[in-house]
Amino acid sequence: MTSVLDLVRPDLRAFAGYASARREKATGHVWLNANESPWRSSADAGLSLNRYPEPQPTALRERMAALYGVAPERLMVTRGSDEGIDLLVRSFCRAGIDGVLVAPPCFGMYAVSARVQNAPLVEVPLEDRGREFSLDVTAVEDVIAHGDVRILFLCSPANPTGQALSIRQIRHIAKAATGLAVVVVDEAYAEFSSVDSAVSLLDEFPHLVVLRTLSKAYAMAGARIGAVLADPDVIKVLRSVAAPYSVAAPSASLALDALSESAQAEARARIATTIHEREALLKVLRGMKGVTSVYRSEGNFLLVRFADADLALRRLLAAGVVVRDMRAMPQLGDALRISIGTPDENAALLEALAR
Ligand SMILES: Cc1ncc(COP(=O)(O)O)c(C=O)c1O
Repeated sequence: MTSVLDLVRPDLRAFAGYASARREKATGHVWLNANESPWRSSADAGLSLNRYPEPQPTALRERMAALYGVAPERLMVTRGSDEGIDLLVRSFCRAGIDGVLVAPPCFGMYAVSARVQNAPLVEVPLEDRGREFSLDVTAVEDVIAHGDVRILFLCSPANPTGQALSIRQIRHIAKAATGLAVVVVDEAYAEFSSVDSAVSLLDEFPHLVVLRTLSKAYAMAGARIGAVLADPDVIKVLRSVAAPYSVAAPSASLALDALSESAQAEARARIATTIHEREALLKVLRGMKGVTSVYRSEGNFLLVRFADADLALRRLLAAGVVVRDMRAMPQLGDALRISIGTPDENAALLEALAR
């Protein structure tokens, strides 16, 4: 029986990380152990910012665990998903040896983290099926069987292409990766999708990791709060590699507020509006002159191909509408990615394009 810990970098398996003052369990009322200021700043908004924060903010961890339907020991609060991606690559990939699999065109941070760790990047390009991109699961399984990759980043729903992976596809890949690689499903846009989350597979596969974030559906990109959902042993490894206090106290406090019952109800309403707007925009764009293709999307954005993407971009910019130029990405030489805005913002986008 193999353990997921066998996949961790051998030099990190017994590594406990930095023993910060806040990690040491102690009770007392005179705190002289962390070289903090005993006085509060006048800028302190009642958060006791003179003190270092909890390495893992307990209340937020519990609320996020409840939100995603896992036990708290299966969840690490991170400084956005970006921190989770970086910690995973650093924990599992030996520099220059263990590869990272990505399926381009995809979110760029997987390749950036691989590059920083000097982990070889292995690409299995997505297949363009006209109105949707799809993952070549057989090709992914072939790469896994070869033994060169230690981590796979599967983005579902995928940025910028918009498609989501089914539970069946993820289970297939996770089975093929048993004992060989960690399978990371990045669900940054899951709240906008009708496809089920891979969280339900965590019990079955200790080498499966799910990334979630408050940056998108919960409207908290500026607070930098995400979560890694994984086997408790994986969480322990990631925590040993992470900076001692990566989640700032004001961010943790605001994130807790953003997950209150009323704030969650507001988020659900925003998600419904976004999905409605996405489908309406998709229809209008598909009928627009100069638009050659609009991909179905399970996220809060649309990937759109233009007969003349440069002209479209210039028209939009002239009207003050900023979208993401995707033309430098593989297979996307004529594409722009358009985030779904408010109904007024989407109307402004359409007006600028129709001009
Ligand atoms: C697929 C995907 N994963 C992760 C992130 C980063 O999220 P966070 O803000 O939580 O770091 C993004 C941001 O755009 C993304 O598109």
